[in-house]
Parts: sequence; C-alpha cells; structure tokens
Amino acid sequence: MEKVSSFLLWSSILLPAALIFLLVRKKRKNVGIRSRPRPPGPRGWPVVGNMFDLGSVPHLTLAALRQKHGPVVSLQFGSMKTVVVLSAEAATELFKNHDLSFAGRTITEAMRGCSFNESSMALGQYGPYWRALRRICTTELFINRRLNETVSIRNKCVDDMLRWIAEEAEEKGSVEVIRFAFLAVFNLVSNLMLSRDLLDPQSKEGAEFFRLNSTMAGLSGKPNVADFFPSLRWLDPQGIRKKMDECVGRALEIASGFVEDHIQNQSLGEEIGKKDFLDVLLEFRGEVKERVEISDRDLKVLILEIFLAATDTTTSTIEWAMAELLRNPGLMSKVQAELDQVVGRGIKIEEKHMEGLPYLNAVIKETLRLHPPLPFLIPRRAVEDTEYMGYSIVKDTQVLVHAWAIGRDPSWDDPLSFKPERFLHSDIDYRGHHFQLIPFGAGRRMCAGLPLADRMLHLLLGSLLHCFDWTLDGNVMPETLDMEERMGITLHKAIPLKAIPKPRMA
Ligand code: HEM
Repeated sequence: MEKVSSFLLWSSILLPAALIFLLVRKKRKNVGIRSRPRPPGPRGWPVVGNMFDLGSVPHLTLAALRQKHGPVVSLQFGSMKTVVVLSAEAATELFKNHDLSFAGRTITEAMRGCSFNESSMALGQYGPYWRALRRICTTELFINRRLNETVSIRNKCVDDMLRWIAEEAEEKGSVEVIRFAFLAVFNLVSNLMLSRDLLDPQSKEGAEFFRLNSTMAGLSGKPNVADFFPSLRWLDPQGIRKKMDECVGRALEIASGFVEDHIQNQSLGEEIGKKDFLDVLLEFRGEVKERVEISDRDLKVLILEIFLAATDTTTSTIEWAMAELLRNPGLMSKVQAELDQVVGRGIKIEEKHMEGLPYLNAVIKETLRLHPPLPFLIPRRAVEDTEYMGYSIVKDTQVLVHAWAIGRDPSWDDPLSFKPERFLHSDIDYRGHHFQLIPFGAGRRMCAGLPLADRMLHLLLGSLLHCFDWTLDGNVMPETLDMEERMGITLHKAIPLKAIPKPRMA
C-alpha cells in the first residue's frame, strides 16, 4: 500500500515537476548560449549571404579568413549557417570538449539520392543506427586479425598494378599515376568486400559499378543551390538530385546482384575458411544490434559507401606523394635507399616491412599534412545549441574543420615546404590524438577505415618507389611541375601527374 502511494506521489507530482525543471533549465541554458555572440566573419549579401564569395578554390578562400577574423569564422550560405575551424587550438577545443555536440552530419541534396543517407554510416546522424554500424566496422571489419587474413589479396592487387604500369610504360613511355593507383585501390576494396576482381575485363557490372562510383563522387562534390535554399529542393535547379537518384539506384541494383551471387557461393567461401567483408556483414543481416535492425538495403549501401570512402581518398594521397617526391628527387632517393636497405633490392615489399620504414612513413604523414584529401573532413553539424570558444553555435549549424589550413598553420616549422624529416624524431601522427595533423579527422566520427588506409598507402607507395625509378614526363622539370589543386569530393591535383617509370627490379 505504502509502495503504491509513493508511486502515485512520484508519478503525479514529482515526475512532472522534475520534467518542468529540466525543460526550464535547458531553455535557460539555450537562452544563455544564444545571448553570446556568433563567431566573427565576413559580411554577406542579403539573402544569398557569402554564397558567391567562395570562388573556385573554397579551401583557399576560407583559409585566408583566419588572418582577418581569427581561428573560428562564421559564414552564411543562403539559409545555412556555417562555422569554420581554422587552427589546431580551436580543433583541440572542439574534439576534446564538444565532439558530441558536433557529431551530426550536414546532409546535402546529392546525399539524399535514393535515400542513400538514411542507410549510410558516414552520413548517418549520431545515434543507435550509426553506433551499430560503426561497431561492426571497428570490431569486425577493420581489425588487425581480419586485415592480416587478407594480406595476400593486397599483394595480388599490387602485383597487378605494377604489371599494368610496366606494360603501359613499354607501350607509351609515360603513365598517368593516379589511373593505376585508382585501379589498384578499387580492385583491392572489391576483393576485400566481395572476393572478386571488379575490374576484370570479363566483368561488365564491375566496369559499370566503377563508372557509377566516379560519377557519384563528382556529383557529391558539386556546389548545389538547393542546399543553401531548401525551399528550392523540389525544383532541383541543377538536376543534381535527379542524376544522383539514377546513379545510386543503378549502383544499388548492381550491388544487389553481388550480394545474391555471394549468397549462392557462400558455402564455397566457408569451405576455404576465409571470410570477406560481405560474409561478415551478412552475418549481421536482419540482426538487431543496439535495438537497430540492419536490413538488406543497409548492407548494399554500406558496400557502396566503402568503395566511395576508400578510393578517391587513397588514390589522391598516392598521387600527391608521387608529385612531391618528383619535385624533390633527393627525397625520393632517400625513400628508395631505405627500401633497398630494409626490404632488399629485387625483393618484393610486404606489409610486414612497414614497421621498419620510418622515412616512408614520414613521407606519407607529410603528404597528408599538406594535401588532406578531405580538406574540411566530412562536414559536421551541431546537434544542439553549444557554447564554443566563447561563441554561440546554434543547433543545425554546419561545422567545417579545416584540416588543410590546420596542416599549414604558422606554428609548423616552415609550414609550406615538403619536409618529411620533421616527423622523424617526433611522435606526431594522424590517429586522432594530435590535432595539428587530422587528415582522418578525430573524435567519434573519425575515419573508420584508417587501419586499412594506412596499410594500403604504405604498400602502394612503397611498391611504386621500390619497383621503379621515376622521372617527370616531357619538358616538365621538378621546379616547374604544376601543383594546382582541384576540388571535387576530394582535393585532387588539377592536372593529373604523368611520369616515366623505369624498372628497378624484374
Ligand atoms: C587516405 C585515405 C583516407 C582518408 C584521408 C580518409 C579521411 C576521412 C575523414 C576526414 C573522415 C571524416 C572524419 C570526421 O568527420 O572527423 C572519414 C570518414 C570515414 N572514412 Fe575515411 N579516409 C580514408 C580512407 C578510408 C578507407 C580506406 C575507408 C574504408 C575502407 C574509409 C571509411 C570511412 C568511413 C566509413 C567514414 C565515416 C565515419 C563516420 O562517420 O563515423 N576511409 N575518412
């Protein structure tokens, strides 16, 4: 009886009172936050705001704002409020103290193509569904045990790449580096995910899937007026949403075929005793994880997403590294000398060698410092009103962490020069603990594929340098090599790098 009356007292008086108290407190907190100033920034035009101030190289325009406005800058693109974080200190404050408040994602119209964002992990809002997928990635897919099991796949894809390069060089003299790196990474991911060579000339769907991936990457990187004026979404003024719907729809159809084939051949894989990523994902199909059911469609989107996340980022890093080394032939010789000493001339480089190659490792860090493929990471979104660095950041503000500007911060010694030596006696790395070097982001939303990216970068770049001597094509001299950048979904070299490979080993 006593229990019942205390329950009644709790439910009829205390519970509503507690709720009202919490609501009032949250409202007061929000009023407190909103009374703070917004970060400073350039004045915008009526209605369009700063939309037309970005120019063709938005990362340069935004980086330049720091000089006038400081390390945290406010902009307005149409109706979209945006904050740009431009220094390592401001990034430290964000990742250490406000990571959760800024753990949402800004979703553009292109990302809504065929409702891709609803099943996506990289674009998923912070919550149970994202957590469930993220857990599968970090405990099942990108773990050392699974990656060690698939070493031979990576070796095979690297061998293919080296053979294709040698053949093309014999025929044409020079090669477009990024094309071969792209083919290698694409095949590497397709072998890991699906146990098949999608770029096998026999595979028609493979070639189409490859083409769709490139188109989707291009469409996602295009500025879209409908993102800045949601009232124009229905009109789709640039037709980006329509094209994206078509591409994602077709890519998912092809992915469905891969999954069906896989299920039919599954017993074969199990007999051999090796699981690819799709085998692992299929074990979670229909399973309820963290109160979330992972559907067939979610799995197909995840397959597509891993291709999108892995290929452009990894290949553009390889291209920039090669370009920087061709501009600095002395540094290229140093990497090759290290490879000759540790791996041995004429012996193939393998992942087991990576620990003993500090100079190669320093070259990769230095490349990612100057050329992070995602210069603003993947745009974050404030999930609640937040007081950050004394400023008010209101809910739904887009937050761009400018990894490119932070990598060139004046606090680095001689920040604009390519000097891998700076990392030789330093413990700074890109695993999300040193906020002056964040090409993979940091905090909860940090790159989920980092362990794989790390292995691919070392293996691919190490193999290119160990197996060939490289010189620039035509009349291009190291001092005149064009290093202009082009912004797509990643920051690529505007003019693809062409170079002449001369075999160093059979
Ligand atoms: C050089 C190679 C790569 C770079 C520089 C890179 C960079 C990034 C960055 C900056 C983010 C966003 C981090 C943030 O918002 O704080 C990200 C997210 C992500 N990356 Fe990577 N990435 C690379 C390769 C890969 C690979 C190989 C995979 C998978 C095979 C991958 C899968 C993902 C996924 C799934 C996310 C979303 C994570 C989330 O939202 O929780 N990435 N990556």
